[in-house]
Amino acid sequence: MPGTVHINANIHTPLDPGRALAGSEQGRVMTLARGALWHHRGVIKAVGPQEEVLSRAGDDAEIIDCQGRAMIPGLVDPHTHMCFAQTREKEFSERIQGVPYLEILKRGGGILNSVDSVRKASREDLLKTTLEHLDLALAHGSTTVEIKSGYGLDTENELKMLSVIELAGQKASQDIVATFLGAHAIPREKKDRPEEYVDLLIDEMIPKVAEQGIAKFADVFCEKGVFTKEQSKRILLAGKKHGLLPKLHADEVHDLGGGGLAAQLKAISADHLLAVSPESIAEMAKAQVVAILLPATAYSLKKPYAPARTMLEAGLAVALATDCNPGSSYVLSMAFVFGLAVMQMGLSLEEALTAATLNAAYALNLGHKVGSLEPGKQADFCLLAGESPAVIAYRAGINPMAAVYKKGRLAAS
Ligand code: NIG
Ligand code: FE
Repeated sequence: MPGTVHINANIHTPLDPGRALAGSEQGRVMTLARGALWHHRGVIKAVGPQEEVLSRAGDDAEIIDCQGRAMIPGLVDPHTHMCFAQTREKEFSERIQGVPYLEILKRGGGILNSVDSVRKASREDLLKTTLEHLDLALAHGSTTVEIKSGYGLDTENELKMLSVIELAGQKASQDIVATFLGAHAIPREKKDRPEEYVDLLIDEMIPKVAEQGIAKFADVFCEKGVFTKEQSKRILLAGKKHGLLPKLHADEVHDLGGGGLAAQLKAISADHLLAVSPESIAEMAKAQVVAILLPATAYSLKKPYAPARTMLEAGLAVALATDCNPGSSYVLSMAFVFGLAVMQMGLSLEEALTAATLNAAYALNLGHKVGSLEPGKQADFCLLAGESPAVIAYRAGINPMAAVYKKGRLAAS
């Protein structure tokens, strides 16, 4: 029987019950010393004790010795804005001197600054930057990545971004999932007529995006001075009507009850949640909305981290993402995010591992395909430069990935 068996690995993986692991379940991770993983044609055939897997794979299988390294599922980054044209270093300098993030947006910078450069950029340039970002993400362990639009803010440029994201998905090693985020900010030309922009989103942009089949989710930045809770609801309901599953930038800076709205709409995830209320947490738990936490954003905005432990105690499923964007988190490394989750938000290593793999996969509706090392799933895995996932948080500031495999092929080392 052909295929490849990776032997002598310390395997660490959540086990998939067919949904995200929530609350106290989140820390239940299988560990296997001297384990092996057998894959064929990009799909996992078996995971288990080495001798057992070797005898099942037969004599013809190729054998690779992992030399006692830790093996974990390929990381899944379920929230990024990594398709953009230019960085915003000047604003970063202003922010670390104390200018608030939303103040920069109010002055016409921030997201609107990125809109100016994306509108001017050619498809080729946007693609080039996106692929460079994806390469770096891959080197740091991300084998599946979500990318949002949201720097076009008109029909033509939002569609341009989504077509670039689609192309990036064809060219990059990773699986890419696209989210329509036309509701990322009110564009300059509609500054005094925000309702007109909401109408444009609902009447023109969402139907066109859905018709082209180039996005799986719709998302809204529900925030003071951006989109209200009522506007967010209208936009996400319109998306739902057109088959775009709802996600929400919720309660990032101010508590607007975004978590509660995500629960009401049965959104697949509510993201950020730095300022979420206990009521919203309870509603999200009841509606099984995955909480995607973005600790690199709290780090970069110098804000208190999201209350991850309170969420787990309330029975929520927590996922992690980079939020990679040129404003609030120019971070591409899920390994760095994993470290922040453990050191700053109090997640155990096991909880963080589930959050960055299986729960992140469920937050993209991809739990059936990726997120754990089990037969039938894609052979996406990382070998770490250490014997356990501890090394990811322990050796902060270096890339802890020794090798990253996508669909059974070595994609980065
Ligand atoms: O998730 N909060 C809104 N959107 C992004 C930031 C986008 C930007 O500043 O360019 C976020 O933090
Ligand atoms: Fe975001």
